[in-house]
Amino acid sequence: MNVPRMEGVRLNAPAYVKHRRLLEWVARMAALTEAQDVYWCDGSQAEYDRLCQHLVDAGTFKRLNPALRPNSYLALSDPSDVARVENRTFICSQRKDDAGPTNNWVDPHEMRSLLETGERALFKGCMRGRTMYVVPFSMGPIGSPIAHIGVELSDSAYVAVNMRIMTRMGRAVFDVLGSDGEFVPCVHSVGAPLAPGQRDVAWPSNATKYIVHYPETREIWSYGSGYGGNALLGKKCFALRIASTMGRDQGWLAEHMLILGVTSPTGKKYHVAAAFPSACGKTNFAMLVPPKAFAGWKVTTIGDDIAWIKPGKDGRLVAINPESGYFGVAPGTNEKTNPNCMASLKRDVIFTNVALTDDGDVWWEGMTDTVPAHLTDWQGHDWTPAIAKETGAKAAHPNSRFTVAATNNPALDPEWDNPAGVAIDAFIFGGRRSTTVPLVTEARSWHEGVYMAATMGSETTAAMAGGNGAVRRDPFAMLPFTGYHMGDYFNHWLATGARLQAAGVKQPRIFCVNWFRKGADGKFVWPGYGDNMRVLKWMLDRVEGRAAGVEHLFGISPRYEDLNWDGLPFSLEQFAAVTSIDHAAWKQELQLHDELFQQLAARLPSQLRTTKEQIERKLAR
Ligand code: GTP
Ligand code: SPV
Ligand code: MN
Repeated sequence: MNVPRMEGVRLNAPAYVKHRRLLEWVARMAALTEAQDVYWCDGSQAEYDRLCQHLVDAGTFKRLNPALRPNSYLALSDPSDVARVENRTFICSQRKDDAGPTNNWVDPHEMRSLLETGERALFKGCMRGRTMYVVPFSMGPIGSPIAHIGVELSDSAYVAVNMRIMTRMGRAVFDVLGSDGEFVPCVHSVGAPLAPGQRDVAWPSNATKYIVHYPETREIWSYGSGYGGNALLGKKCFALRIASTMGRDQGWLAEHMLILGVTSPTGKKYHVAAAFPSACGKTNFAMLVPPKAFAGWKVTTIGDDIAWIKPGKDGRLVAINPESGYFGVAPGTNEKTNPNCMASLKRDVIFTNVALTDDGDVWWEGMTDTVPAHLTDWQGHDWTPAIAKETGAKAAHPNSRFTVAATNNPALDPEWDNPAGVAIDAFIFGGRRSTTVPLVTEARSWHEGVYMAATMGSETTAAMAGGNGAVRRDPFAMLPFTGYHMGDYFNHWLATGARLQAAGVKQPRIFCVNWFRKGADGKFVWPGYGDNMRVLKWMLDRVEGRAAGVEHLFGISPRYEDLNWDGLPFSLEQFAAVTSIDHAAWKQELQLHDELFQQLAARLPSQLRTTKEQIERKLAR
């Protein structure tokens, strides 16, 4: 085959790459970025080990004590590059209206000039002195009809090794792509070119950041950050922002949802998908260990962050987890709250921004009851409980994370890798709300469920730069991740429900939960974690038509006697504290719904407005 030529740089493409358009694109990007050389990832263990050693040599990784944490590494990022940057994230559709008022929009022509074509375009020469890694990946089991392929070009070896854990990455992807298959091109640069002889820093990045999506041409361009969702482009950029637009066009859903399996003592299996905003409990819920009183019940993980949901053969909604690993929040994770997660983290882990113990292991806030006497914190400084008390310094960054393969999870569902996916019985939506929103509410209809999800509010977290606990509307936990107009997205959900109904298929039940109500002492009232099984069981019983509840303003909730309290001392007063519905607070809440609806007015489905009016009428009575 006639391989495209590049000036100065060798393309180095392996003979098994037969995709001419891909080769030409890589050549073009290498020329634009002036990468020093091009390296094609094959996804092998040997390559992973080699790249990790390279990162150790470069000072980006520290190898952890192999006796305590075999084959594991710690990376400390630049303190200015620790989370997703929502205000630097752009949906550059041709028309501003298609991105909608909840997304940042720049005219694609103008953005291309800024990034690629202008005289001082950011990607021009941005990889000077660096290797461009070609990272081929499949979101979803390789070859699955639900899966899609992407190729990320990145000047970060940290990204390459993380992508190997988070996606099905490597040579096998080219077999699926063949000579003309479809792929989403993803270009990523930390934006820190090196002059000849210039010494690199441990975590290169740039104060200027752009996380850019072109939904029509299905392209992703990311500049300036090496962290998480800004840089691992298969995750939020592709699997949510680009995939949501693909789903809108093709009749499927890309959601910020965990997927779990629940097996009852009689062996009946259910599948539940749940959307909670960032750092609001998806990974924990997906790995839940039921309390002793629920002997015989088992929860298994299919996914912990993203679900792709398509109509299956029988018309039911089936879901796959497009990812193959977990990029999870470290703080708060411990043997009591999430033993499956702790077991997953025993080996083969990349930790980012957690603290280092003196014997070469990791630690984070909430990991153990006894706090180590001395640590090196996530910024590389000495840390002791006394220093923390004085300065408030956290040992681990609140958004510190682990990257680990799904196959490390002892609770991994046997179907997690099934290319056909699993049929969904219920959807759950939940925010982080210290007040107002009750523990659990069932929607009486699909459109009432869509209303609940659409109007959901949540306190912002450290998963986004600037997150400070302020309540904001986060529809479907998708505010930062929907690649098109939020009003159209609501319409798409309503249409999905209508399609199920027209096909005579049972619609999954929709529930809304809140694990995070606080008492007067400022502490969470609900024990959460494993005890969330008590709520999950009620929801499944509702699906079976077996559990009672009471109707109220906006749905159905259990009474105290409708939940199983075996083994948990939880008083009626405590129950009231997590379930009460304060009408004054709800009047204010509905004003916030109204603000969102006004913002989206141009494309807001009328059904949602009608639902709101019904609630308002009941409130007024
Ligand atoms: P992303 O990866 O950012 O999408 O987050 P996530 O939704 O997977 O959240 P995760 O499960 O990692 O939990 C985030 C934080 O919330 C952690 O500190 C958890 O310990 C805490 N958390 C999770 N579940 C519960 C719960 O049921 N109750 C309480 N109080 N805290 C919880
Ligand atoms: C989130 O913020 O929802 C995450 C972490 O899952 S990141 O990959 O950085 O988006
Ligand atoms: Mn997430």
